[in-house]
Amino acid sequence: MTTAAKTETNSKEGKAVLLKQYIGGKWIDGKDSREIKSVNPADSRQVLAVFKGASREDALSALEAAQKAYPGWKSVPAPKRARYLDAVVRLARHKKEDLARIMTREEGKILPEALGEMEKGINLLEWFAGEGLRFMGQTAPSELAKNLLYTIREPLGVVSIITPWNFPWAIPCWKIAPALVAGNTLVFKPASCTPWMAAEFVKLFEEAGIPPGVINLVLGSGSAVGDVLVEDPRVKAVSFTGSNEIGTRVHELAGKRGARATCEMGGKNPCVVWEDADMDLALAGVMKGAFGSTGQRCTATSRLIIHEKVADGFIRRMIEQLKKFKVGDGMKPGIDMGPAVDKGQHETNIRYIEKGKQEGADLIFGGKCLQGPEHKHGFFVEPTLFDHVSDSMTVFQEEIFGPVLCIRRVKTFEEALESANCVIFGLTSAIYTQDISLAMRFVEEMEAGMVHINSPTIGGEAQVPFGGVKASGVGEREMAKEGILFFSQPKTVFLDYTGAKRKSSIY
Ligand code: UN1
Repeated sequence: MTTAAKTETNSKEGKAVLLKQYIGGKWIDGKDSREIKSVNPADSRQVLAVFKGASREDALSALEAAQKAYPGWKSVPAPKRARYLDAVVRLARHKKEDLARIMTREEGKILPEALGEMEKGINLLEWFAGEGLRFMGQTAPSELAKNLLYTIREPLGVVSIITPWNFPWAIPCWKIAPALVAGNTLVFKPASCTPWMAAEFVKLFEEAGIPPGVINLVLGSGSAVGDVLVEDPRVKAVSFTGSNEIGTRVHELAGKRGARATCEMGGKNPCVVWEDADMDLALAGVMKGAFGSTGQRCTATSRLIIHEKVADGFIRRMIEQLKKFKVGDGMKPGIDMGPAVDKGQHETNIRYIEKGKQEGADLIFGGKCLQGPEHKHGFFVEPTLFDHVSDSMTVFQEEIFGPVLCIRRVKTFEEALESANCVIFGLTSAIYTQDISLAMRFVEEMEAGMVHINSPTIGGEAQVPFGGVKASGVGEREMAKEGILFFSQPKTVFLDYTGAKRKSSIY
């Protein structure tokens, strides 16, 4: 039995899981002397997992293992590489309830959301397994007679995958599946506060029989291993999701030595609700976008830009719903919103709420941490609404990554567009209207990588590109064909089959 499997059983008995690094097909202790703990954000007295963090040396061993495994993995035909993903899909389907429970306990999102994330990740694995059969090049007509011009796609080599805590299953799925199908070997470094999900993810690949060294897991702090995974010359590409601060650095360091980087970073996503909108639909979409996953998604709706004629009624209905909203441990039935992921994020939420008040935004709902008997050991904060927010306020400009929605009332569509575009970010956006011309104008003028019409700002589907513009992302988009293009490169082949009889050339 592998370490990860053994410890899952322990954890059901209330003991902390002992996690290890997975390097070259073996589960080993990290060499960093510091022990890292993952706690349940709904009750921080519960230590879920402990592990010795990876050191720089461990990261180097993981890169070495990946480098060693690369020639073998590259030579496995792409459709056969995809079979490993098919096997992971089968295993994941079988274990999805257990995995969702681990996710809720470790990350805090409510169980239905964790199950939804499991499904989403499985869809992504399936899509990329299909890409193994479509790992194709092109043929082109040559200027020359009896010449065949064609391309094949090849992997890049060793790649680093650096993922955040907020989607501890789906994000590794959408980065690691295309990397593997394209024939790369990799080192996976998840966020330190969701190591258990990451170990379970890797365990599925181990169970599927993936050759040693193809996927390596390094659990540890970014400060100990991050630079190695970005700067080592063996690393041909880095796929990162996380903060702007780190993403910009990753892009710069990788770019400096000619390695590829795709960095998916922050968002400050607007949802425009127009006067003619279907208000029930808009209300459901704004609530889900703003408070789903405790607002801890880069696609969260953090700005509601609403026509002044309908604002009062809409806000009244939102408050009615929020009064009934249950915040608590996501493992319990009937809970609408879980905790912030950790103390740091909890403090960030409260700091931004204070800032909003200081800057004169009108706090009309929530704003406090919850400290009753059910909440006092967790990192809970109330869903929060600020009304009469102006474009220049910090809470309207900066990503909070918590359940805080800022409302801006507007009179004209021009004002709505200007406000929607007034931030440095451009990940996703939404508009609720029945007017097709307004919706299409929004599509044309919105500076964002994704636009939703009559649906919330959140989500993505495997078969279409995911990512943003402006400060929200650099590098290739993720998912879909773009996911495969990022992790592979074309080789152009010029095949002249005229033989010795050839007489002329075009040149
Ligand atoms: C979603 O909205 O379902 O970090 C996905 C994030 C994004 C994923 C969002 N990369 O929140």
